[in-house]
Amino acid sequence: MRNPQLNKHGELQHLLTLDGLPREILIKILDIAAPFTEVAEREVKKLPLLRGKSIFNLFFENSTRTRTTFEIAAKRLSADVVNLNVSTSSTAKGESLLDTVDNLCAMQADMFVVRHASSGAPVLIAQHLQACGHDDIHVVNAGDGRHAHPTQGLLDMYTIRHCKGDFTRLSVAIVGDVLHSRVARSQIAALKTLGVPDLRVIGPKTLLPTAVEHMGVRVFHDMREGLRDVDVVMMLRLQNERMNGALLPTAQEYYKMWGLTAEKLALARPDAIVMHPGPMNRGVEIDSSVADGAQAVILKQVTYGIAVRMAVMSMLAGN
Ligand code: CP
Repeated sequence: MRNPQLNKHGELQHLLTLDGLPREILIKILDIAAPFTEVAEREVKKLPLLRGKSIFNLFFENSTRTRTTFEIAAKRLSADVVNLNVSTSSTAKGESLLDTVDNLCAMQADMFVVRHASSGAPVLIAQHLQACGHDDIHVVNAGDGRHAHPTQGLLDMYTIRHCKGDFTRLSVAIVGDVLHSRVARSQIAALKTLGVPDLRVIGPKTLLPTAVEHMGVRVFHDMREGLRDVDVVMMLRLQNERMNGALLPTAQEYYKMWGLTAEKLALARPDAIVMHPGPMNRGVEIDSSVADGAQAVILKQVTYGIAVRMAVMSMLAGN
């Protein structure tokens, strides 16, 4: 069966998930992103690749990094960008997601960048566009429920490749609330596709998916054991907004067991990098001395996010 993200020529039509995305397309996105990082150094930070294209940012859930960097990326590619303010849009009057999309299609949209609390919302939009014959309109998933956050996964891969080079020699640990994390799912899919031989998840049983080991990872419930000699530490935020019931004792207890402190980080390789998708809860999943320390690449991730999103959008709709 054809990958629903690819068109009949095997090119990227939508970016909905990193699960099943061919390795060559993943690498191509990272390669295309590399020269885009230099656009930020120019006096005129503009390329004409999306001139005349209309991109709609549809964020039905809060965001700082993703929404802003998508907007910057689209503007650097000379696109016209519309940020739908969902709280003041007709969504608040009961308009359905697909009716909103139909109306924006009537305004000659070329691309929708979608964040939604419900897993599957971007896929639903992509299927709807196909059913309506809008094969020329692209959808980018900017994070849906617990399902996927593909551009976050890609910018994380870009950051790792920039700092560490070869994926096939790395030990990578993903720490914390994997259960509720779309970021972790996208990271695991990409790291496996790129051939990371030692992929670990570390966290309490209540915050790891059932049978998580079937995702091709090694599972650790002892953070000190799990961090030993890793090259990359990827911390996750506690996704309190997605938790049903008490899965944790207290934030202080969580920090004691699963918070990344300088003392725990010392168990990783001396040149290990520390990543976090943001927003961070300092003193809950990460100590400030680590978040602001020499091994942290957390703000680099944000900066690379612009180039990676430029790469994705130009691959989808570039002139
Ligand atoms: N990493 C991330 O998705 O951050 P935002 O929620 O601020 O977009």
